[in-house]
Formats: sequence, C-alpha cells, structure tokens
Amino acid sequence: MIKGLIFDLDGVITDTAEFHYLAWKSLAQKIGIEIDREFNEQLKGISRMESLDLILKHGNKEQDFTEEEKEALATQKNDEYKESIKEITPEDLLPGIEKLLKEAKERNLGMVLASASKNGPAIMDNLQITDLFDGIVDPASLKAGKPDPEIFVRGAEMLGLDPSECVGLEDAEAGIEAINGAHMFSVGVGSKEAMKEADYAVEDTSQLDLNTILEKAGQ
Ligand code: BG6
Ligand code: MG
Repeated sequence: MIKGLIFDLDGVITDTAEFHYLAWKSLAQKIGIEIDREFNEQLKGISRMESLDLILKHGNKEQDFTEEEKEALATQKNDEYKESIKEITPEDLLPGIEKLLKEAKERNLGMVLASASKNGPAIMDNLQITDLFDGIVDPASLKAGKPDPEIFVRGAEMLGLDPSECVGLEDAEAGIEAINGAHMFSVGVGSKEAMKEADYAVEDTSQLDLNTILEKAGQ
C-alpha cells in the first residue's frame, strides 16, 4: 500500500528548472560555450558542480579552469539563479500541484522533498508549502546524487516507510533512474522520450491526479 510521496522540486513543484537553464546558459555564454534545451536535459537533477563539469566538457574546456575558478563560476551561476527565485510566490506552484499536495495531506500520505538543490528549502518557504512536508533530504549529506537511488531511499527512511510503500515524482532522466533504483514506483513529468523509463508518465503537472497515481502504483 502506498503511504508516502517523495517529490523532486525543480520542474515538478515549480518551474525553477527553467531558471536553472537560463542561468547556466548565460554563464556558459560568458565563457564561450553554447548550450541548448536538448543538452539541458542532462543537467536536470544533478548537482551544481556536476552540471558545470558537463557544460565545460560540452565546450571542450574541462582543462581550462582551476578548481577555484570553477567554484567562482558555480557561484556566479547561483547568484543569477538566486535573483530569479527571489520573487517566487505560492502562485508559482505548477498547475495541479497545490491540489495534489492538499489531497495527499488529507489522505495522511507522508511527503518528503528529495531535491538536489541547496536552494530547495528557500524555494519551499517562498511557495509556502514547507509545512505540508514531513521533511527535506539534505542534498549536502548524500554520498552520491541522482541517478544514485540514495536520496529517494533516504526520503522513504524519513517517513519510516519501505521504498515499495512510496511513489517518487520527477522530471529528470537522472531522477527517474534514481527512483527506479530505489525500487519505488516512478512518476515522470515531461516528454515521452525523456520519461520513457518512468513507471507512469504525464506530459505536464496539470495531468497529475492522486487517484490515478495510486491506482497505477497498484493500490
Ligand atoms: C536540481 C536541478 O533540482 O538541483 C538541477 O534539477 C540543479 O538543475 C540542482 O543543478 C542543484 O541545484 P542548486 O540550487 O543547489 O544549484
Ligand atoms: Mg527536477
């Protein structure tokens, strides 16, 4: 029986995946690297420094910067990103998410955030949804990020549940791989191609319906 929902944040709860993309695109341009939306799919779900490494590799510039310079580049990206998330309000919940969270709460399902983002707690506060959640997995405490299953396994542990009693929701290919690796039912949000490994996928959050999800997860 499903007793918990483990949520990704960026691109599932709110549209910050777009802000991450725009901030990386502008940072990449400053160092002479072009990235597009197709390439960006690989950046979803992975940490800040891993994203920077992939961008540098994409531009054949992985040898051009010292660790210190890379830290500075990542900080520059994060500063621009933080500017975009400053103004987030509850209105920025993606379509269908407020209903989903409230229905899940009414049914006493446990809810945990499993986001790779260190900005997660601030965004949750701006969205005014922190109180609906039972916990947030601290990405800094993980041995390995997505696609490793650890973050979702930790999310289930926080709820005192077995992963098989939880559903994970994601918009990133790396995230779906992490949920599947945790032996949890995976719900994907995004294109059929990007979400092909998900147990159940919808094209956008407005199609997320709690009853359907629970039914698909075999309840
Ligand atoms: C994930 C995003 O949720 O968080 C990634 O999908 C992002 O794109 C990662 O790189 C880390 O976020 P932050 O806010 O710690 O730089
Ligand atoms: Mg995401």
